[in-house]
Amino acid sequence: MENSIEHKMTVKFHTIAWQGGPDGYAELIDQTLLPGEVRMLPVRDVRTMWDAIQRLQIRGAPAIGVAAGYGVVLGIQPLSDIDRIDTALSKVQEVCNYLSTSRPTAVNLFWALDRMKKKAESAGCKTTGELKEILLAEAQAIHEEDAAMCRAIGTNGAKFIHDGARALTHCNAGGLATSEYGTALAVLYAANEQGRQFSVFADETRPLLQGARLTAWELHQAQIDVTVICDNMAGHLMSRGSIDLVIVGADRIAANGDAANKIGTYSLAVLADAHKIPFYIAAPSSTFDLSIPDGTHIPIEERKPEEIACPWGVRTVPEGVNVYNPAFDVTPHTLISAIITEKGVIEKPNRKSIWNYF
Ligand code: MRU
Repeated sequence: MENSIEHKMTVKFHTIAWQGGPDGYAELIDQTLLPGEVRMLPVRDVRTMWDAIQRLQIRGAPAIGVAAGYGVVLGIQPLSDIDRIDTALSKVQEVCNYLSTSRPTAVNLFWALDRMKKKAESAGCKTTGELKEILLAEAQAIHEEDAAMCRAIGTNGAKFIHDGARALTHCNAGGLATSEYGTALAVLYAANEQGRQFSVFADETRPLLQGARLTAWELHQAQIDVTVICDNMAGHLMSRGSIDLVIVGADRIAANGDAANKIGTYSLAVLADAHKIPFYIAAPSSTFDLSIPDGTHIPIEERKPEEIACPWGVRTVPEGVNVYNPAFDVTPHTLISAIITEKGVIEKPNRKSIWNYF
């Protein structure tokens, strides 16, 4: 798996890899340690995978989907190859239910688990050993397809990055958030590969600083001109005419185009609208949730107050003071100029254009 995807260029790390056969293990970059340390975390059981997703050692909607696929493979490893197939199939259900409780917002998690369950049910395996092989192949297919989707998103979106453009991005929608290459950052990587000169402002992205720690790390490695700003500086830059476009990823897109992404994205979209700056979302088809009519139905993860009150062990809010920590917000489709996917570009997304797309 590790070397099966051809790299031209820019992204020189593997966010997640599988080592060995069905009884092997997953290995992922522990993103909680970046940018200080690049350390691979071996994940040898499903509990460790659940924990890695919950603690954001692996994060970003598509990467969570890939991790979930491998999590299912790990979850059935304790079964012996001579266990009955119906025992194995109910174990798959149990493992999927368990992994689905790790994080609520990114639909890619549920999409990947559904795909693993469907594969298990439809494959007609006669033995548990055979099922293990089939499910590893399915998890690897999710992984490889995600990489291909990211490439295609980059190709489809590169035209929006003109020479001299100053792009603003939020959170991390790069190679670290996917199998490789990213979604929003894929567009930037593709424009870079096409020889365009541009610069990027990365919102630091409070409270967990995915922009400062991860996006800046990636873009700097790729030798793309990146400047980190605090989240509350974006309006100032826009008012000075210093931003030409905003481009972000998404964790779940409803049937009408409303899109959930990292908390703070909605404010950026409102600001972009006020300053007549295009606001793009880049996301694969696996991020669309057509079962929900609009963004009000997207579950918003609420994380521990300590992430705000005591980040990295430093108390920044007095003890006993209330803290509220929603991890995502929803940008209404009316504020989105276009959604860039692996199949093309949905301009001015709405229920009809998304229906036509699918
Ligand atoms: O909490 P995180 O770090 O998982 O949030 C990630 C984001 O909001 C990303 O922008 C989104 O998943 C798109 S990743 C290609």
